[in-house]
Amino acid sequence: MSEFAGKSVIVTGGAMGIGRAICESFAREGARVLCVDMDEAAGRKLENSVDEIRFHRADAASAADCREAVNAADGVDILCNNVGIQPIESYVRAHELSEEMWDRIQDVNLKSAFLMAKYAIPEMQQRGGGVIVNTASVQGLQSMKRVAAYAASKGGMLSLTRQLALDYAEDNIRVLAINPGTIETPLVRDAASAGGLSMEEARVKGAEVHPVGRIGQPEEIAEVILFLASDRAKFMTGEYVNADGGLMARGAWAS
Ligand SMILES: NC(=O)c1ccc[n+]([C@@H]2O[C@H](COP(=O)([O-])OP(=O)(O)OC[C@H]3O[C@@H](n4cnc5c(N)ncnc54)[C@H](O)[C@@H]3O)[C@@H](O)[C@H]2O)c1
Repeated sequence: MSEFAGKSVIVTGGAMGIGRAICESFAREGARVLCVDMDEAAGRKLENSVDEIRFHRADAASAADCREAVNAADGVDILCNNVGIQPIESYVRAHELSEEMWDRIQDVNLKSAFLMAKYAIPEMQQRGGGVIVNTASVQGLQSMKRVAAYAASKGGMLSLTRQLALDYAEDNIRVLAINPGTIETPLVRDAASAGGLSMEEARVKGAEVHPVGRIGQPEEIAEVILFLASDRAKFMTGEYVNADGGLMARGAWAS
């Protein structure tokens, strides 16, 4: 029997993309999964397709919504802070970025992880431990032009990961982060189309920069997250893992 059988898992931004794959992978292993997302239609569709997945509508940037989401779960063993946005309008330099856009990106990408942790950690303490896995990004380590708010939010996520790991090691709560490379999801499809590219063209372009010669699939990120959440990774905390097809191994000077 899987070690996740009967465990209670919360996944933010769980209705689509990487989050959806995380929900499905934990459900396949027998966990009870609460998919927390703003997209009611996509969330209900997922809930109706997999018995072990329940949908809870919430804006992960809202403290009240995060508190309700944790209350809606049947305890929390594993929290996946996966939600993240990178709106097309945010691809500008800092002096052109609106304060509202900056705030929204920090709130959804970073504050949501703090809020979910704040409400889920007491549940984990009561159960004698737990695991938090944060979805950060390779853009939290290195960057590209015109992504100030997103890059800052992901750098913050890596820092928050270390901090929570230090503060809650004594409670048997491990905290880890994953940095995906380019993964084929609605987020990437939208970014490609805003740049005038089809998904196929984005795949080809992505293949050129990822040393493995292709972009990733959501399930490949979910697999690593399940490992990090498992007892096989029980000596890991406060650390990040790049699941990026070798992207971070490549020097900027490499041809
Ligand atoms: N796709 C990539 O190439 C890539 C690369 C690195 C990191 N990431 C990170 O992985 C995570 C998932 O990305 P994705 O590509 O699957 O994104 P996506 O846009 O495909 O899916 C995101 C999900 O989050 C939900 N969501 C958005 N705002 C929300 C909010 N305020 N409250 C609740 N739910 C909300 C959406 O409805 C959607 O279901 C994000 O943190 C992203 O930054 C993605």
